[in-house]
Amino acid sequence: MIEYLTKSGHPDKQHTACVVIPLFKGRKLSQPGEALDTVSGGALKRFLKRGDIDGDPGESAWLYDLEQMACDRILLIGCGAERDIDAAAYTRICTATAQLLNRSGAVDAVSYLSFIDNKYFDQTRLVRDTVIHFEHALYRFDEFKSKPEKVRKPLKRLTISVPSRKDLSSGEQAMREGMGIALGVKLARDLANLPPNVCNPNYLASRATQLQKTYPKLNVTIVEEVEMAQLGMGAFLSVSRGSKQPGKLICMQYNGAPESNCQPIVLVGKGITFDTGGISIKPSPAMDEMKYDMGGAASVFGTMVAAVDTQLPVNLVGIVAAAENMPDGDASRPGDIVTTLSGQTVEILNTDAEGRLVLCDALSYAARYNPDIVIDIATLTGACIVALGHHASGMLTNHSPLGRELTRASKGIGDKIWELPLWPEYTEQLKSNFADMANIGGKSAGTITAAAFLSKFTNDYRWAHLDIAGTAWKSGAEKGATGRPVPLLTEFILQRLKHGVCE
Ligand code: BES
Ligand code: MN
Ligand code: ZN
Repeated sequence: MIEYLTKSGHPDKQHTACVVIPLFKGRKLSQPGEALDTVSGGALKRFLKRGDIDGDPGESAWLYDLEQMACDRILLIGCGAERDIDAAAYTRICTATAQLLNRSGAVDAVSYLSFIDNKYFDQTRLVRDTVIHFEHALYRFDEFKSKPEKVRKPLKRLTISVPSRKDLSSGEQAMREGMGIALGVKLARDLANLPPNVCNPNYLASRATQLQKTYPKLNVTIVEEVEMAQLGMGAFLSVSRGSKQPGKLICMQYNGAPESNCQPIVLVGKGITFDTGGISIKPSPAMDEMKYDMGGAASVFGTMVAAVDTQLPVNLVGIVAAAENMPDGDASRPGDIVTTLSGQTVEILNTDAEGRLVLCDALSYAARYNPDIVIDIATLTGACIVALGHHASGMLTNHSPLGRELTRASKGIGDKIWELPLWPEYTEQLKSNFADMANIGGKSAGTITAAAFLSKFTNDYRWAHLDIAGTAWKSGAEKGATGRPVPLLTEFILQRLKHGVCE
């Protein structure tokens, strides 16, 4: 992570390698831009008159040697019309700026990008999001490159300017929140980007144990397969038995509000470290991407770290259902019937619908923590990508106020979700002639029937399910983990704390 500071002060007085100034469409300068122009005797506007830059998104210009400036250079960033800058636009603005700065010779900069005044943002959100977007843009995963690309003079420090001194303490707070979220996002991306021969269930368990050393407030227990068998987690074990790698149920408990009587928020993550489909094996093209099938687990790790590192006063539990879905001689067959921890039986009609099998037992296990609410996060269905593409995670819940809370958090941080219905009609698609239910619900509404399956294990508490199949990673030239939905989950917790939902 680079270093972040907040500060208030005139742009011409900044002793820094670079001052970053937003330029709105139609060469409209922001207030710090106007100030620079005045101090420099109109040099900025003379430059703009030449027409090199209009202020459209994606444009930028470097200015050197302006009179009366304490900084070495000025970077103008095209932002489009000020009133149109929403969460997605601000992400692009910060990403472009971070990349330009990192490739320039400037090792530090003072940013006035948060001087945007519109209905989408307030000052604190702009500061927080700047940190998140800069860290996201500067992220590299080159652990496995024998000769990592060297950046000649990387950016080391960003000072985020706020309008006045009275904004400093809230700015500082927002910056810390941003840093916590960025740290969680980075961990989630790192874990998900790891190759599946490194990141297996045992590896995830050891990372959890390591976290306990870094954060003594985090209590980690690993439930091994022997214990799972004693408990009766037949669904989970039906998946892990197909692999040489034993499955692990990783439990991370953080009592950040020990004095309160708050029941914990429990996050349950799908941690399939590789999904071949099992005996119902997947086609070969792009099968490598099934290493990301532990993206839900990665987001649980990330959110736990975001909360623990910033010492949020929240009681939070993270449960990761870690297993590998492989087609071994001992693997489950289509037609097998297993008994879940809840006592309900499941006919496995497709071994590729393995996520719900590990999750249903983890969700029953979650009840032990006497949860206030449970949220599971899973790269569960290809159907979710068909429905929502790569822009929004699917959200289904058995408690509509929880759905509204999640939607509010989602809008508050630009990590999109979209609710799908969990009507009882869909449950009928799961009927089995031989067991209490089948593990698949046919061709239509695949995301909903998967959630309907999980809902049979979540009757004892308020629950929401996030299907992140389309949002956890990007394919193509920029292939890689996104760290979603760590921002959403952390913002959800932060909003709960701010609104005093649990006192
Ligand atoms: N991990 C996959 C879902 C997935 C597919 C995520 C593609 C991201 C991209 C999951 O385990 C799976 O295989 N689901 C099946 C369910 C089906 C057998 C009912 C699917 O979506 O095809
Ligand atoms: Mn699968
Ligand atoms: Zn899967």
